[in-house]
Amino acid sequence: MVARVIAVDPFDIVVFGATGDLAARKLIPALFHRDEAGQIPPEARIVGASRRKVSSGEFRDLAREWLKTHVAADERTEGAVDRFLARLSYVAVDGDGDAGWSDLATALADQPDRIRVFYLATGPDLFGPICAGIGRHGLNTPNARVVVEKPIGKSLESATAVNDAIGAVFPEERVYRIDHYLGKETVQNLMALRFANALFEPLWNNAHIDHVQITVAETLGVEGRAGYYDTAGALRDMVQNHMLQLLCLVAMEPPTSLAADAVRDEKLKVLKTLVPITPQSAQELTVRGQYRAGASAGGPVKGYLEELGQPSSRTETFVALKAEIANWRWAGVPFYLRSGKRLASRVSEIVVAFRPIPHSVFDGAAGPIDANRLVIRLQPDEGVRLWLMIKDPGPGGMRLAHVPLDMSFASVFNVRNPDAYERLLMDVVRGNQTLFMRRDEVEAAWTWIDPILDAWGASTEPPKPYTSGTWGPSAAIALIERNGRTWHEDEGA
Ligand code: BG6
Repeated sequence: MVARVIAVDPFDIVVFGATGDLAARKLIPALFHRDEAGQIPPEARIVGASRRKVSSGEFRDLAREWLKTHVAADERTEGAVDRFLARLSYVAVDGDGDAGWSDLATALADQPDRIRVFYLATGPDLFGPICAGIGRHGLNTPNARVVVEKPIGKSLESATAVNDAIGAVFPEERVYRIDHYLGKETVQNLMALRFANALFEPLWNNAHIDHVQITVAETLGVEGRAGYYDTAGALRDMVQNHMLQLLCLVAMEPPTSLAADAVRDEKLKVLKTLVPITPQSAQELTVRGQYRAGASAGGPVKGYLEELGQPSSRTETFVALKAEIANWRWAGVPFYLRSGKRLASRVSEIVVAFRPIPHSVFDGAAGPIDANRLVIRLQPDEGVRLWLMIKDPGPGGMRLAHVPLDMSFASVFNVRNPDAYERLLMDVVRGNQTLFMRRDEVEAAWTWIDPILDAWGASTEPPKPYTSGTWGPSAAIALIERNGRTWHEDEGA
């Protein structure tokens, strides 16, 4: 099956931080895929910008290497690569100075009415200065928009300052705050599952759902990003954004439409309804861990502190917590979240655990009756599994088995699963903000996260150590088992 492609209008995209890791691994490959699929019109231009002094030719050479590394060989032909690279040019620009801006203005001057995307693939300290530069040099044309990456700040206070600086140049309807988890196919499928089927919504509440688990587990360590990571930690890096966004999509009320503000209004209500975690409750409701040496992804690996070369760091590489939502639909339904690096396997999934049946008509020989579970797998093996009880086949009496009704997207659709950035970049060009975070959402998320950070900061206890290649500190298991529940393990995976 071939995915349907609708071409977007002609656009210019300026990527700040164009020689950095995000451009290399995600942005240039994503634009290539969309070009190759015929979605990008011939006039569209891609302008790299960063402090480094390279020529357009050298930038194209760099991009050719990135495509070799990050696009599978059977997904690129020489012709397609050459055609794509011809769209690229480069301007050396000093994000927080004045050098190079007039060259950038010249590069864009002939198309003042065209859709213009400024993608800031830089640290958040440059968001304000770059936006100011865009304003000062008259580049903020009516059709211009800005895309910013997380992290947006490190706390509510710093996020507010970053948002103010962006907002001084771009009105909110032209600001696109990327959370790449929202661009993942299965995350959007969560909305399809909930709102395009009559089956689930009547059960989607505390009368029928016992609890929800959201796991984002990685086998990788902090790789080359220790400098950034050590100032962030798992709570800021994964929970404040990706995981709270997933929680919102599970918990929000049905929006009236998929219009950006209709969806974002509902997500905001969830964030504002999260029960605050206090310094006292943080002890009971949160667990932070830090990986030690062990074995992961097939070989021995160092611990976080050795990788960092900083034996006193208290930065957490793992977090598990229990969140609660104070409204009629969800009161009494815990949302267990966990995320970490160097865990036993790479898996991201949302598990909706339904309540047990109220009364069994089966005798003991039938075996235990497990409650239904809906497992939405984001990666790897995107798909949805609904765990049901059925009769074990055969004449041996009534014995029951727990089996999944299994919909693996790869086998149903047989298409390449596009990377989240492909979808999100095209949404920016189309002017669709549904899958981007609004300012108030980001700030509401920090409002909930800040007290946890404060409680951890005030505690004398360091993060709990865990061996690389395990599921994190045992306290994370205790967190859920204390309530008589267990972390989901997909027997059929
Ligand atoms: C990023 C985090 O936002 O998401 C990384 O900064 C993390 O630390 C990454 O590894 C995970 O993304 P994905 O798409 O690989 O699950």
